[in-house]
Amino acid sequence: PDQAYFANTLLRWYGQHKRPLPWRDTTNPYYIWLSEVILQQTRVAQGLPYYLKFAEAYPTVQQLAAAPEDEVLRLWQGLGYYSRARNMHHTAKIVTDELNGQFPGNYAALLKLKGIGSYTAAAIAAFAFKEQVAVLDGNVFRVLARVFGISDDIAVPASRKVFQKLADELVPADAPDAYNQAIMEFGAIQCTPVMPDCLFCPLQQSCFAFNNGMVQELPVKKKA
Ligand code: ADE
Ligand code: SF4
Repeated sequence: PDQAYFANTLLRWYGQHKRPLPWRDTTNPYYIWLSEVILQQTRVAQGLPYYLKFAEAYPTVQQLAAAPEDEVLRLWQGLGYYSRARNMHHTAKIVTDELNGQFPGNYAALLKLKGIGSYTAAAIAAFAFKEQVAVLDGNVFRVLARVFGISDDIAVPASRKVFQKLADELVPADAPDAYNQAIMEFGAIQCTPVMPDCLFCPLQQSCFAFNNGMVQELPVKKKA
């Protein structure tokens, strides 16, 4: 599909289908960072109560930084991957001690922060600061691979460049925040890994995978 058509279709779909989630009602970079760290290896249904718990226990990045590590780990209990909680606590201290409690205000500066990778930097930049940068997660890889017929192996690191370039070009200047939420949500509830809802999909007519019988084949992810 044409790029503007793709973005507009996703934005319209998002307006009709989006789940009301608390981190979508804020532009506070701390809350956005908190939600993205929790959601990185965790489903929304599982992560939501943890997000609410952390936001209530530590309403500011300074309060998270000041908390004892064993308390942070206790609140994290049940989410798994405890290194995420330790890294999160560590990054909170860096932001508090070295940056006066302020998250950097753009993608490049966020990326320089130890503890913030390209995914999280893009999410904060787009959602908090409306920067025209694409958030790339598994949902986005899948949607782009299917709709645009990209057969680069998503398990190969070099493929990232191919996807990032296309993904960045698709972000509309006037709605980088809503658009990025929209494509992730579309991957999470419409264009799902197994049994995507192609029959009731607003992109069906222009979707490469659907039109070529390749929905099961895309994205390409070769087993190591
Ligand atoms: N998973 C990761 N980030 C998310 C977000 N911002 N909204 C919903 N699910 C997500
Ligand atoms: Fe995804 Fe199917 Fe829609 Fe294509 S038609 S975007 S594969 S849900």
